[in-house]
Amino acid sequence: MNISRRKFVLSAALLLPISRLTATDLKSNVNYFLQGVASGDPLQDCVIIWTRVTPTDPLKTHVKWEISTDPGFSKLIKEGQVDISAHHDYTVKVDVKGLKPGCKYHYRFLYQGTISEVGETQTLPEDLKEGDFTMAVLSCNNWEDGYFNSFRFLAQKTAVDLVLHLGDYIYEYETGAYGNPASGRINVPKHEIVTLQDYRARYAQYRTDPDLQLLHAKKPFYLIWDDHELANDAYKDGAKNHQPNEGKWSERKKAAIQAYLEWMPIRADKGSEVRRKFDIGEDISLYLMDERSSDRTQQMENDQPGFNGADRVIIGESQYNWLAKELKSSQSIWKLIGNQVMFSGYAVAEGFRLPKYNDWWLGYPAERARILDMLDREKIQNTVFLTGDHHESFVLAVHKEAQFMKYTKSHKQKPLAWELLTPSITSRNGDRRSKAEINDFEKMLQDKNINPHLVFADIKSHGYFIATINKKRFRTDYYFVDNILTNQAKEYKAATFTIDATTFGIS
Ligand SMILES: [Fe+2]
Repeated sequence: MNISRRKFVLSAALLLPISRLTATDLKSNVNYFLQGVASGDPLQDCVIIWTRVTPTDPLKTHVKWEISTDPGFSKLIKEGQVDISAHHDYTVKVDVKGLKPGCKYHYRFLYQGTISEVGETQTLPEDLKEGDFTMAVLSCNNWEDGYFNSFRFLAQKTAVDLVLHLGDYIYEYETGAYGNPASGRINVPKHEIVTLQDYRARYAQYRTDPDLQLLHAKKPFYLIWDDHELANDAYKDGAKNHQPNEGKWSERKKAAIQAYLEWMPIRADKGSEVRRKFDIGEDISLYLMDERSSDRTQQMENDQPGFNGADRVIIGESQYNWLAKELKSSQSIWKLIGNQVMFSGYAVAEGFRLPKYNDWWLGYPAERARILDMLDREKIQNTVFLTGDHHESFVLAVHKEAQFMKYTKSHKQKPLAWELLTPSITSRNGDRRSKAEINDFEKMLQDKNINPHLVFADIKSHGYFIATINKKRFRTDYYFVDNILTNQAKEYKAATFTIDATTFGIS
């Protein structure tokens, strides 16, 4: 009888006690885990673990998974087996239940004589007690714009409990359409992604990035999509970057959402479940919003008839009702809204180009006003918008203003909310303007006569911020890298802001 070498190696390895099972024992000639491992959506007692298998024999469908509290897996806390299939693009998602709150775990997968790398993850604490919860907030990693150096630096920060990714995890464009040729990074596939196979292939490419793989292996993620996981400026029934010759939007959207759910370590079986919330005792509530696929109406210019209509929405009736009910009933000290597009906005002086805001909340004034009215009327305390999409770093006070796009209230007055914008990991921002232009623009933005609500603006840097949250304060540290065009870079802390839980002032 012929026993293949792989089978033999696995059989021999399985005879060893588990404490002696190592990657070397199980080594086969094939790396079946090309896209690494990931974890996400931790609650107090469960977490999703993820991998993808690249099978050479489609009949070998069993993948084993193991969880331990130590990296050597001397004692297994949980283990199990799942099937893979082409139906889910050979991705593996397991919701591991029965875990303890506030605990660190190690996990790994075994398939056909190969053991995956070991991932690290952790469950949410029951409450903050006297400690901090530390969450990195990031968005917008475009392959063709450069190297994901920030992910590598972040992966090394042991104090960070979790990564919140606010979207634009992939970009849908054909090669050369959006990015920086100087990076030398080329999209796979080279054409714009439209079909299920295309979206899967783009995720598979992004997950070969060593810095992204490393970060996934080291930290659990919460994720929510923005437009580019579907197509640029996506809304419910279309997208700016969807043309009639690319087929039906409904088919493309379905394909994009299916690939997202396969590839992201999140607890959602269908698109409507990506809107979700997480609680840490009565200290933190985090609401993740779907601002693209569920109800958003088409973008419109502000001089078009109907621009101010109540029927023009980003989140729509059902999501608004959910958010309003949650905010009103929440006892949490901090109410965090994981938000894609900028809520507050800013103005520019004459002679400066106003960014195209019709895709932001400012482009949907009636629904924006409805949310502001609700925060004001219900006296919702300590609301913080955590925002991606804009590619630039801003700290802004959110006030109700009498006139559209006219900011009159100072950030020194107690705001209805704060908004913290995370810069892009790589995606284009003001970085390719001249130094003089950047300086002029940033200086103008900080003019108190134009933007009295603005605390901080940086339009040219790439990185992320870390929110360090406890019962008394919400600290934000911005970290930027000095280079994205090679994989050599230095990281530095650029700015720190602290919101006080009692006064809701910032310093
Ligand atoms: Fe983006």
